[in-house]
Amino acid sequence: MKKLLSTVACGIVAMTFGQAAFADPDNNNLTVEGMAISTDAKAMAGGPLDQLFSGWRFRASETQSLQMDDFDNPSFVFVEDGEALYDKVDGSEGKACSSCHEDVAEFKDLRPTLPRWNEAKGKLYSMEQYINDCRVDRMGAEKWKWTGTNMTAMTSLISLQSRGMPISVATDGPVADILSKGKEIYYTRVGQLDMSCANCHEDNFGNMIRADHLSQGQTNGFPTYRLKNAKMNSIHARFKGCMKNIRAKPFKPGGAEFQALELYVASRGNGLAVESPSVRN
Ligand code: HEC
Ligand code: HEC
Repeated sequence: MKKLLSTVACGIVAMTFGQAAFADPDNNNLTVEGMAISTDAKAMAGGPLDQLFSGWRFRASETQSLQMDDFDNPSFVFVEDGEALYDKVDGSEGKACSSCHEDVAEFKDLRPTLPRWNEAKGKLYSMEQYINDCRVDRMGAEKWKWTGTNMTAMTSLISLQSRGMPISVATDGPVADILSKGKEIYYTRVGQLDMSCANCHEDNFGNMIRADHLSQGQTNGFPTYRLKNAKMNSIHARFKGCMKNIRAKPFKPGGAEFQALELYVASRGNGLAVESPSVRN
């Protein structure tokens, strides 16, 4: 027990924030395949942040450059898996995605608006749910796991269609209550380290935590290829990782809490360009 306690105590000491060599985001410009993609935006008036910055601006230049060329970007291996799945017949109805959605480019306006209210279902919908509804109800196929490799391959392919477009999730109307729930989660201290999302991503972005240059924790780049686990990571998987890092019991990926948080975090990034699929460490 004594050993455990001292390990935890060490963890807490290590969680102090340090000044980075560059305390602010750097001034690098992101150009992908000849297209300039803005990595900052002015925040909505009255919000918690003045200026919004993509997480790309806080990464080391070697990591940044991986995202600047689709050939170097490891995400594109997974985007290709998504393309193959898109054309693959699956389920009792003998259909593929492309049987009904001929060209994946038809989804180009979708990613910036998600998650959003689904009127027919009477609830908040993330991209994963739209995809699984089609698989189950229209293809007679099995659901994909929210954070699984088939799902992230497909969400990477669909999100890519919106690259460069500004995030624009709705925050009023039927989602207003869910948004406030997400906000409450964002500011609530949890876990053995007793920290909130805001302690790191609002109060300390630009500072160092251990070896990491802290960003604003924006979601405009998701799904994200992480060098750490060499695969595509969904938004909920990242939230789960951050909660585990502060030794909190994470909410369930695909559950109501993470969906509310997904909406609230997206709204904090309204105006930032979609960078999916991005590269982070
Ligand atoms: C102890 C500090 C800490 C806390 C608390 C924390 N995070 Fe993070 N988070 C990090 C670090 C470190 C990274 C990786 C570097 C970066 O992008 O900031 C990260 C990355 C992220 C990213 C990826 C950003 C990108 O551009 O790829 C998101 C999204 C995120 N966090 C959301 C959250 C949410 C939501 C919470 C609350 C449930 C949270 N974090 C709590 C430290 C923290
Ligand atoms: C049998 C036809 C059919 C198949 C097969 C199908 N879909 Fe759909 N899909 C639809 C219809 C119909 C809608 C609802 C369209 C609408 O509401 O505008 C839809 C909606 C969607 C949406 C939400 C679009 C939006 O703008 O709201 C996504 C994302 C989607 N499908 C992805 C997929 C993917 C990925 C696959 C394969 C895994 C797939 N669909 C398979 C017919 C199909």
